[in-house]
Amino acid sequence: MEEKREIDVKTDRKKVNKASEKHKQLAHFIKSVHTQLRKDSEVFGAKEAWNTHIAQKEKLKEYAKSMYQLATKHWGQKSQSSEKISCRVEWIKSKCKDYFFNGGVDKYDEKEQHLLEKDTPESCRVERVENFEAWVISKITVLDVGSCYNPFATENSFIVTAVDIAPYSSDVLKCDFLNLNVGSERKVTECNNALIELPKNSCDVVIFSLLLEYIPCPDQRFSCCKKAYELLRDRGILFIATPDSKHQGSNAKIINTSWKVVLAKLGFMRICYEKLPHLHCMMFRKCCFKEAAMKKINWKKIPENDELYSLMKIFIPQDFQSKNVNDDTDDDLQQFEHNDQESLALFNELPCEI
Ligand SMILES: C[S@@+](CC[C@H](N)C(=O)[O-])C[C@H]1O[C@@H](n2cnc3c(N)ncnc32)[C@H](O)[C@@H]1O
Repeated sequence: MEEKREIDVKTDRKKVNKASEKHKQLAHFIKSVHTQLRKDSEVFGAKEAWNTHIAQKEKLKEYAKSMYQLATKHWGQKSQSSEKISCRVEWIKSKCKDYFFNGGVDKYDEKEQHLLEKDTPESCRVERVENFEAWVISKITVLDVGSCYNPFATENSFIVTAVDIAPYSSDVLKCDFLNLNVGSERKVTECNNALIELPKNSCDVVIFSLLLEYIPCPDQRFSCCKKAYELLRDRGILFIATPDSKHQGSNAKIINTSWKVVLAKLGFMRICYEKLPHLHCMMFRKCCFKEAAMKKINWKKIPENDELYSLMKIFIPQDFQSKNVNDDTDDDLQQFEHNDQESLALFNELPCEI
């Protein structure tokens, strides 16, 4: 009996080690694609590097398969067994339903009204009632950018348009969001089922789940956020989930404060922020009035000439790290390799910088 238990424990350990090895390989490949792209961008310029990148069909296909395997085979198990939401997909679904079906829209309409009236003399206040009329919807129109395998497809309250430069599953439309046209109608090419245009103000929700760290340069990331703004209806939501295995404060200046400030200038008000074990999860509302988003920021605390806040760019911590593709000595990867809780990290969200 004792002997059998020992054999079982050894077999389990072997399985975990094998899974851990596979997980490491997949995460490493994904990270190397991002790092190479950032490096090429610096050498050849963002546009040329991006065009060369999206022409590498085999590499993109391998990336899509690796991402699918990581997300569904390695991370999925931990998320299901944990009571607290630790998975980006579940977090987004739950926040979305709270916002649209459980009073969130009204709550933030009031907040926006309050901000607009703040510091404005009563005689100068403008009636803005029609902008905040009741908004009742039965299904939420979602655009999932960089969807890969369409993780939101099973959510009944969503009508999902899933797009990716390299779709893993057939229900994801091919689309380079950086080159998507924002116009007056939805246009899909017949020859290769590629989405090339979406109407302005047509989405309730835009999702960037693990997207921004793939995009190599700060201007391109900003341009993605600007496009999301144009595609969203007033009061719509942009979700951003971005990996970071460090504690909440570590990259706070970049991800927490600078994104909030730069996006406020576009007219987005951050209404929710949560640090999950290896992720920052954020919810931004497209305000009816840009002014309200700007008023939410405490400008006294924002240094005027710091480029993190003053430029129309979205920086990520990786912009300030080593550019060597084969350099695995960055903090996040080391943490993965030497973390005592490796088995915990193994089944959780991205344990290493990607
Ligand atoms: C790290 S994966 C995230 C997949 C999925 N959203 C998730 O949370 O598991 C990033 C995805 O973004 C896609 N992507 C990157 N740049 C894109 C762009 N400009 N337009 C559309 N998809 C893009 C990649 O092909 C990749 O599938």
